[in-house]
Amino acid sequence: MALDALLDAIADQGWFIWDDFLAPEQVQRLSECVPEAWHRARIGRHDDVQREATIRSDKIQWLSQTMGQPIQDYLERMEQIRQTVNRDFFLGLFEYEAHFAKYEQGDFYKKHLDAFRGQENRKLTTVFYMNSDWQPADGGELKLYDLDDHLIETIAPVAGRLVVFLSEKFPHEVLTTNAERISIAGWFRTNGVTENKLDIAN
Ligand code: OGA
Ligand code: MN
Repeated sequence: MALDALLDAIADQGWFIWDDFLAPEQVQRLSECVPEAWHRARIGRHDDVQREATIRSDKIQWLSQTMGQPIQDYLERMEQIRQTVNRDFFLGLFEYEAHFAKYEQGDFYKKHLDAFRGQENRKLTTVFYMNSDWQPADGGELKLYDLDDHLIETIAPVAGRLVVFLSEKFPHEVLTTNAERISIAGWFRTNGVTENKLDIAN
C-alpha cells in the first residue's frame, strides 16, 4: 500500500515520489478550486521584496477549508499522512499549512531549504502537481539535492504526483518553467517556539 511505501521511503532515504496520489478526476475537481487571486510569494517574514524576486517568482494563495469540498478532501488526505507519520516516527507533527503556487512562463524558485535547523519548525514538505499534459519541453522540474549538494532526483511536475521529503535535509529548486505550472506546496510543522512566541498562538 502506498502509505507504507511512503513510510519506508522516508525512513530509508528521507524522500518519496507518490505517483497517482490523486486520480485524474480528483485533480480536475481540485483544479476547479484554483484561486483567481494570487499574491507574490514571500520567503520569510522579514525578507525584502527585491531580494525575494531574485530567488522566487511564483505567486501563491494559501489553502483554506472554505475553498470547497475538494480542498477539504485534500486536507483530509494530509491529515491521514500526518497521523500515520506521527505514529511511526514520533515526529510530533501537529499542523499542516499549504498554498497553491502558480508559476507562469519564465518563473522559477532558486535552490533553497524549506527549514533551517533551530530556526523553523517545518519538518516534512509535500508538493502536489496539477499539470495534465505536461511535456518535457515545459521545463519546471523540481530538482532535489542532498546536504552535500549532490543531485538526487529531477522530478517532472506531472498531474497527480505528490513529492514528500524531510524539510531540513533536502535543498531543492524549481527550474524555469515554459508553461503555466500549478502546484500545492505544504508543510507539516512541529509545535515550537519562534521569536519568543509559541507558534500555535500565531
Ligand atoms: C516551495 C517549493 C517546489 C515545487 O514552494 O517551497 O520548493 O516543485 N516548491 O513547486
Ligand atoms: Mn521549497
